[in-house]
Amino acid sequence: MQNQDFSRRKFIKAAAITTAAAGLGVTPGMSGAKETLAVLGGSAVRQGRIGPSWPYIDDKVIESVLKTVKSGVWSRIQSATGTVPTFEQHFAKLVGAPYCVGTGSGTQALSTCVEAMNLGPGDEVITSPYTDFGTISAILTSRALPVLVDVDPLSFQLDPGEVEKHINANTRAIMPVHIMGLPANMERIMAIAKKHNLKVIEDACQAPFSRYQGKAVGLIGDLGTFSFQASKAIACGEGGAVVGSDEKLMNECFTVQNRGASKQGKNERIGPKYRMNEFEGAVLLGQLDGAKERFEIRNANANYLASKLKDFPGLKPQKQYEGTESGAYYNFAMSYDKEFFNGADRAKFLKAINAEGVPFTSYIKNGLHREPWVDNIIRLKAYTKFFSPQRLKSYKEGMQLKNTDLITDQTMVVMWGSGTLLAERSELDKIVDAIHKVHENRDKLKTI
Ligand SMILES: Cc1ncc(COP(=O)(O)O)c(C=O)c1O
Repeated sequence: MQNQDFSRRKFIKAAAITTAAAGLGVTPGMSGAKETLAVLGGSAVRQGRIGPSWPYIDDKVIESVLKTVKSGVWSRIQSATGTVPTFEQHFAKLVGAPYCVGTGSGTQALSTCVEAMNLGPGDEVITSPYTDFGTISAILTSRALPVLVDVDPLSFQLDPGEVEKHINANTRAIMPVHIMGLPANMERIMAIAKKHNLKVIEDACQAPFSRYQGKAVGLIGDLGTFSFQASKAIACGEGGAVVGSDEKLMNECFTVQNRGASKQGKNERIGPKYRMNEFEGAVLLGQLDGAKERFEIRNANANYLASKLKDFPGLKPQKQYEGTESGAYYNFAMSYDKEFFNGADRAKFLKAINAEGVPFTSYIKNGLHREPWVDNIIRLKAYTKFFSPQRLKSYKEGMQLKNTDLITDQTMVVMWGSGTLLAERSELDKIVDAIHKVHENRDKLKTI
């Protein structure tokens, strides 16, 4: 009986691997001699960078910066028609946002939103542990408490069920992160926010122009933010923006990032100086013309890669929620399943595929719940004064996030997309060939 069961399981697994191989266009046993893995001395499927160099630079960008240098208008307060206000108008139009405020980074954009909503000591903001530390940092800067809840293991996005479980009397806002540039489950998040009367700040730092249920991400919640850091699809080194539809709230955002001074020049409130400078504005303005086209290319190329991996369960492309119309693909992300690679763990797969010239990585090493800030902040007066010892204890104990641990430690595989996904299709085919080659040699992976 036991033996029968074992053979049955073996058969199912073999059948699944055959199907997986078929998904990549491989016919096991019929593909002739296997090519030796590059990591074992064979020749690599490909070499060198995939896609254009990054950040994106062309003559327009250079001319725009030169013009700004020569103009002597180096701060946005020197001219209402400088590069920053002009960028804000153009970017808002491209996203379809009624209002936009530039900032010096995506972190500053998020921080501007937290401050503009007057979230602070004693308030809790629910967000994802699987993100850039800038997301959390923006909440901490206002001394609010970032409550990290687990993500879905296949979409890598905030799990709405977990969000609802962690709402309490202190909860004031939810900060969903559109991780990899794909939309989070905004339908459920907005419904939860409405039910509990919470604000929603979308961290769309990786997701400019992504669309969900007829709307651009960043415009679904109360406020949305973008990052223009050097690795991003639209990049000026360090830069960011807040978008929104509520004029009053967006004026508040302007005032916050203008170190507390309103558009009318009145010194009104607490506000750091988070202004975008005119050089950053110049780089961004120089890039905006082709930004939507490049977004479309990345989106189409990501769909192409996903279609090639459709029937291959060893690497499942990031799960998308119903209503996702397009994605910015800051990263093309996949879940690695070692069962389909002869039990070889992810590090071995990455070593083999990297040697084939394919720049896959495991991306974020630790969920943010496993970083030292957790223990450090709960000792600060800003937290011990406003939260009970029981709440800080349950806060710390709540940092057990098994799906996040699973993806950071075992399953996440990404290919950075800003430049790479602009490559020719023939390059993308080589990526698929390399996956195919590693899969075909899966019996060797444990030895490398
Ligand atoms: C999801 C996410 N949130 C926030 C940030 C912070 O943006 P910035 O680096 O521009 O401060 C980033 C940037 O890496 C990000 O990817």
